[in-house]
Amino acid sequence: MITTRGGIVTGWGIAVPDKVVTNDDLSVTLDTNDAWIQERTGIRERRIGGTTSQLAIEAGLAALAKAGRRPDEIDAVILATTTPDQMVPATSATVQDGIGITGGAFDVNAACSGFVYALSVAHGLLAIGAERLLVIGAETLSRITDWDERGVAVLVGDGAGAVVLEAVDGPGQLLSWVLGADGSLRHLLKCDHGGYLYMDGKEIFRKAVRVVVDSAEQAIAEAGLTVDDIDLIVPHQANLRIITAACQRLGIPEEKAVVVIDRYGNTSSASIPLALVDALDTGRLEKGDHVLLTGFGGGMTWASAVLHWGG
Ligand code: ACO
Repeated sequence: MITTRGGIVTGWGIAVPDKVVTNDDLSVTLDTNDAWIQERTGIRERRIGGTTSQLAIEAGLAALAKAGRRPDEIDAVILATTTPDQMVPATSATVQDGIGITGGAFDVNAACSGFVYALSVAHGLLAIGAERLLVIGAETLSRITDWDERGVAVLVGDGAGAVVLEAVDGPGQLLSWVLGADGSLRHLLKCDHGGYLYMDGKEIFRKAVRVVVDSAEQAIAEAGLTVDDIDLIVPHQANLRIITAACQRLGIPEEKAVVVIDRYGNTSSASIPLALVDALDTGRLEKGDHVLLTGFGGGMTWASAVLHWGG
């Protein structure tokens, strides 16, 4: 990558609704059970509630506090979401106002790949002169879920994760990025205006493993590294079996994968920052580590990035 100006993460935070919905709770109204959900997906419970902007504001404020930055020091807020509060305006406008940011605001919708897309775009802005950015992944998938449809209802959750990115001279933390899409597969995962989320779970599963592995291998190679150099993998949390399969095919021990799907379910754009913050808060990610972020989602889209933590 050619850049004279990079970025590093200086603050992070999350927000999840208080309401915990367990697998047993879902079994009351759906023909499903805790054993099936845990075995087939790895999910034990999820958080449900709030709005995308509320969760994004809470996560964003936590990230700013951690970075020791004021809202008026942020040049732009970039919100990755596939569940905006409204069609217009972008939910980032509500977030900008709610936090008191004086800089720009825009949404990125690349479904579950959204946070890695947003993070890549943010590094581009830093390279052309931005000083500080707030990047958030926030979702309320519960609002577009048909709670009578067990195929989707058992998978989804709500939440948000945010990071503050600050410019540094030199390459910074982002060693490589790979953004991909295949719009001819858009029928696999979709939600029409006013409708519910539809997904072809089996086909997405098959494709997901392939695009995660291919894009991750490309990102690792473009970073000038091998899989053995990767200290931590922060994958999109759609299904524990997808994470396991991807790790196996990449040749990365599964112990290096951050897993939060058991607690939060699939939170789309929020899942990678939720997992990243979990790794940071539990001391699993330290300065100098190489961390691989990798996601896939509706579109289909996929995205992988390798960070050298701390720059
Ligand atoms: N509870 C109990 N039984 C169920 C449930 C359920 N919730 N769902 C399906 N079953 C049954 C099926 O009817 C089937 O029964 P049968 O064998 O008698 O016919 C059996 O369980 C197996 O069903 P499959 O559909 O084959 O289950 P599979 O192992 O494929 O798991 C799942 C389904 C979890 C959806 C999986 O395919 C998956 O995770 N796919 C990927 C989803 C994904 O990644 N989505 C993209 C991101 S989502 C987003 O962007 C918002």
